Amino acid sequence: MMIVSFLASGQGSNFLATAKKIQSGYIKAKIGILVSDNDAPALRKAESIGVKSFRVNPKDYGSKADFEDEMIALFGHCKTDLIVAAGYMRILSPRFVKAFENRIINIHPSLLPAFPGRDAVKQAIEYGVKITGCTTHFIDEGTDTGPIIMQAAVTVLPNDTASTLAKKIHAKEHKILPESIKLFCEGRLKINGRDVIIS
Ligand code: GRF
Repeated sequence: MMIVSFLASGQGSNFLATAKKIQSGYIKAKIGILVSDNDAPALRKAESIGVKSFRVNPKDYGSKADFEDEMIALFGHCKTDLIVAAGYMRILSPRFVKAFENRIINIHPSLLPAFPGRDAVKQAIEYGVKITGCTTHFIDEGTDTGPIIMQAAVTVLPNDTASTLAKKIHAKEHKILPESIKLFCEGRLKINGRDVIIS
């Protein structure tokens, strides 16, 4: 069975949605660990459902390479097959990405390639789009540029704020992220250039 580990910097709601689907047996995999780069609520969520969690503080390391090496070692120790970046707010270095090539899946709160990077929901509101959503994709060396696995659309209503819109996007994220992980764990995702073929 595949071992799925998580990276998270925030609330960890996407972690929880996915981990529960693994624990219930809907996704046939084992959970490895959760790693956070800060004292995030995600760490407590992990402990609350019996998932081992680690805080790796970049300030404790002399360089980004040393910081990431510690994370790579932690993921390696539990024999991680797939890393889910579930709200991880740092850019992974090309070296990290190479260490887990085509084995890191990210969730992003926009319909990529629109609004990559930080504050994607705010960017969408400020731009005035009528439809936005969320995207799961493999992480490559760019920022939110990797091959797209799944997307879900959300209508932006005239009275939506960044916070009401984020809530609606979150609800969709909690569906497409576990589905994407399930497909990966079933060996049903094949990357062909920019295209992810689902079998
Ligand atoms: C999500 O909106 C995700 O798309 C983005 O960060 C947020 C994380 O939310 N990358 P949570 O920590 O899973 O609740």
